[in-house]
Amino acid sequence: QTVRVIGAPTDYGANRRGVDMGPSAIRYAGLAAQLERAGVAVADGGDVPAPRAEERDPSVETFAAGRARFLRETREVTIRVADRVEGALATADLPIVLGGDHSVAIGSVTGSARDADVGVVWFDAHADCNTPETSPTGNVHGMPLAAVLGVGAFADVEWATADGLRADNVAIVGLRDVDERERDAIEESGVTAFTMADIDTRGLTNVVDDAVDVATDGTDGVHVSLDLDWLDPREAPGVGTPVRGGVTYREAHSALERVAGRDCLRSLDLVEVNPILDERNETAELAAELASSALGRRIL
Ligand code: ARG
Ligand code: MN
Ligand code: MN
Ligand code: MN
Repeated sequence: QTVRVIGAPTDYGANRRGVDMGPSAIRYAGLAAQLERAGVAVADGGDVPAPRAEERDPSVETFAAGRARFLRETREVTIRVADRVEGALATADLPIVLGGDHSVAIGSVTGSARDADVGVVWFDAHADCNTPETSPTGNVHGMPLAAVLGVGAFADVEWATADGLRADNVAIVGLRDVDERERDAIEESGVTAFTMADIDTRGLTNVVDDAVDVATDGTDGVHVSLDLDWLDPREAPGVGTPVRGGVTYREAHSALERVAGRDCLRSLDLVEVNPILDERNETAELAAELASSALGRRIL
């Protein structure tokens, strides 16, 4: 098995600058070496070109009934990421997309779902189910799941919609920060959402097993989207939107080992690492380690 690394250095989808440096930080943290420990070969295809916010009109873009900032830029990068992901899968490689803010997942999910029926497991403190109508911020990193599922104003946005993905096959794990109107969008989308309270009462293993059941039901494989803010900020301080009360280092490894054990992984995102806010690159190191667990690294 060969893993194809695809960098997507964006930050215009987020409210704070800096996640555009995520791909470099995760590479410097030893991603290739960590993946080799899992017994896979690594081919790094570099970064897709991504516009910088400074080069573009920063004004809030109006879009349908609401707003989505930098939607034009998001479209450009989404299509590039999707093409690279599709290309990797076409040669039987496993694509890993390094963000960048979480809007890059619109590209990885649409690319992964072009020629296959896929499920999605979304490890995140947030639901990322806002639509341009419901978003309190207009930041597209809070919208990628709604986008790929064609919820709300995204119903008419062809490039953002994932062909081979049904909401029945999407599970969010670790929710603890949902916006007021985003609740309705979650409801409308039909995804399965597991909160931190579910993890507290049922244990991480049971919840992750259920999420993988949702994502594998009738699908050809699973796209895992790992937002590093899924972890508690004490373990992963280098993220743009930290929320207290996340999973621990051990739970995170356990979850991705669980995914590896099901032999269903098709594509993976490592997103929202913000080196400006990090402590000596530890969040990027964590991202690299967790990728290794997802690819099947064993202790013995
Ligand atoms: N819910 C907030 C918003 O829509 C925060 C989203 C955070 N998303 C992320 N991928 N970190 O703006
Ligand atoms: Mn998040
Ligand atoms: Mn299409
Ligand atoms: Mn996210």
